[in-house]
Amino acid sequence: MKPMVDQNLCIGCGTCINACPQVFEINAEGKAEIRQDAPDCNEAGCCEVARDSCPVGAIALVEE
Ligand code: F3S
Repeated sequence: MKPMVDQNLCIGCGTCINACPQVFEINAEGKAEIRQDAPDCNEAGCCEVARDSCPVGAIALVEE
């Protein structure tokens, strides 16, 4: 699965970065984005937790 962040929904709360710092980071606009060097979600093992913990539902996991 591949994580995606809806930039229009993200409020930059940072919960996903705390939950899954290998995959998510905050960009220059103060929104979450996927790290360039992010491991696969299966390997990281925290994408689902990050998605479920986002207060505005900005994170989706999509089939690659
Ligand atoms: Fe944004 Fe949700 Fe993460 S608001 S910073 S995508 S937890």
